[in-house]
Amino acid sequence: MARRTKVTPIHRTRDSRESTRPEAAGLFRTKNDLPERARQETVSLLNQRLADCIDLQTQAKQHWNVKGPNFIALHTLFDSVDVEAYADLLAERVVQLGGRADGTARIVAQQTILLDYPLTLTTGEEHVAALSDVLAQFSRSTRIDIEEATELEDAATADILTEITRGIDKWLWMVEAHQQGGRAV
Ligand SMILES: [Fe+2]
Repeated sequence: MARRTKVTPIHRTRDSRESTRPEAAGLFRTKNDLPERARQETVSLLNQRLADCIDLQTQAKQHWNVKGPNFIALHTLFDSVDVEAYADLLAERVVQLGGRADGTARIVAQQTILLDYPLTLTTGEEHVAALSDVLAQFSRSTRIDIEEATELEDAATADILTEITRGIDKWLWMVEAHQQGGRAV
């Protein structure tokens, strides 16, 4: 089976696919005093992360298909990768800023930029590689978003994204540890 492409180290540039994200719809009126232009940009990036987060949630559930001696350990670990609360944080922040949270399965399928999760994976090693790839990809994106939210002087959004990044990094550690036998490099 072809090996998945490793996520490249963090660059301070956006994934090229992110340029395809849709223009944010018009904002609802709000007494939130962040400038409209900043809210528009933030809503757009948060909706992108919302799509990715819901995709990530469904990918973690593919633990159903793990085969082999590590089945129970990996099934239990993957089940504990619970990012539903993060989807809620992202969606609610979108609406707080006057935006519309775009989180249906159909929109998510169109908009997610995460690597696809091949349904042909079977071994524990393959599942660990696949889930750690998308966890790393997701936290790379949220780290870039933190910088963008900070530049837009939206400290609350940056804080939410920081909380999410902290959690995703923790899941990445727990999943990736299965690939990290031997000496550190
Ligand atoms: Fe399960």
